[in-house]
Amino acid sequence: MADTLTITDNRTGKTYDLPIADGAIRAADLRQIKVAADDFGLMSYDPAFMNTASCRSAITYLDGDAGILRYRGYPIEQLAEQSTYLEVAYLLMHGELPNATQLAGWQHSVTTHTFVHEFLKRALEGYRYDAHPMGRLVAFLATLSTFYTDAKDIRDPDIRKQHAVRIIAKMPTIAAWAYRHSLGRPYVYPDNSLSYPGNFLAMMFQIAEPNYKPNPVLERALDVLFILHADHEQNCSTSAARGVGSAESDPYVSLAAASAALYGPLHGGANEAVLRMLRKIGNVKAIPAFIESVKKGEGKLMGFGHRVYKNYDPRAKVIKKLADDVFEVTGKNPLLEIALELEKIALSDDYFIKRKLYPNVDFYSGLIYQAMGFPMEMFPVLFAIPRASGWLSQWMEMLDDPEQKISRPRQIYTGSDARDYVPMSKR
Ligand code: SDX
Repeated sequence: MADTLTITDNRTGKTYDLPIADGAIRAADLRQIKVAADDFGLMSYDPAFMNTASCRSAITYLDGDAGILRYRGYPIEQLAEQSTYLEVAYLLMHGELPNATQLAGWQHSVTTHTFVHEFLKRALEGYRYDAHPMGRLVAFLATLSTFYTDAKDIRDPDIRKQHAVRIIAKMPTIAAWAYRHSLGRPYVYPDNSLSYPGNFLAMMFQIAEPNYKPNPVLERALDVLFILHADHEQNCSTSAARGVGSAESDPYVSLAAASAALYGPLHGGANEAVLRMLRKIGNVKAIPAFIESVKKGEGKLMGFGHRVYKNYDPRAKVIKKLADDVFEVTGKNPLLEIALELEKIALSDDYFIKRKLYPNVDFYSGLIYQAMGFPMEMFPVLFAIPRASGWLSQWMEMLDDPEQKISRPRQIYTGSDARDYVPMSKR
């Protein structure tokens, strides 16, 4: 049997053989199917890209039914257990695990770029104290684009890598400073003797102690959370980064667009929405009524469901285990009991089973972040920081892909036919 799809156009009786490769046909091959010579040809219509591959990628592999997630072939469970976020960021961007020399060089590069230009402090002062940190992060990335004008030279791999390092290095700094500004606390400068997660915790929470030492359990928990959030193939924010980057915009504004997409409550804003939902439920006795309201379509069970995973999100499993380690140190988050009961009830309810709705990465992560002392507004920022390495890896892969060009979908026009302008006197 040939790897082709034979299509008969019943409007003309003609048949066409379309090649099938990698489980897909090329949408462009549909254009030959016409009813007349001047016909544009057939398009595929796929709102929200439910069944459209936008690219070929070697970075992350997901199997939604089996609940598999691998970065460059390595299972997420093994990376969470044995790797560090910076090593995973290297893996995503370079395709291979670094040897000791490469890792040391990579860590040194990131560590020595954690400072931001002093002017940026003034830019931060321009915000109200209660400005949402994600809004600041989107603006910060765009502002960095005005600093590093050579970043526009996106065809130079060395330039790309140099700015990728800058973004990975500076995101924690500006995130922490946005938090400190909201509390009226002095900014804490990066401490290059600390690990990537440890330095971020110091910049966030150091008060007067001369040498802040992060709690090792919390430092490791944050590193694992960063690993789990680093990439996730062609999700909404990655598609935004690829889309904006396809116009040859620089990496800073491409990631500003990605951060803006991640900010949405259906995407990276979900972990903040989960906490608000758990707070609104208030206690386990109120869960049945809440579940009924969701089933009546009065709202979603935030932190549940996924476009790809129709099984338990493998990241949620790791996070659930991680929660025990964190709560050992911080004390149990009182909302955990509601979350566990909510999961138990939902997983046995036909409404969720039928729709294959399981906890996703956001269902438990917020409980950990809150227990670690992060305010809810910081939760999507805690998603964006590690996802920067995934966005950058995908952005670079797009630029190096000879099949890619500026992304510009078609449409099915449903508006008015041609009509003449109506002067005001006749409206
Ligand atoms: C992330 O894409 C990624 O990889 C994203 C991400 C990443 O790492 O980048 O994994 C991170 O964004 C995780 C998802 C976080 N979002 C949430 O937890 C918000 C709540 N979840 C939903 O909004 C929803 O499940 C989505 C957005 C995650 C997925 O939406 P889909 O794939 O478009 O599914 P759908 O909306 O078509 O839902 C199918 C059915 C619908 O019911 P019917 O119309 O068929 O009756 O399931 C229902 C939906 O109403 N449904 C839910 C639900 N999610 C879907 N019903 C109640 N609660 C939910 N959470």
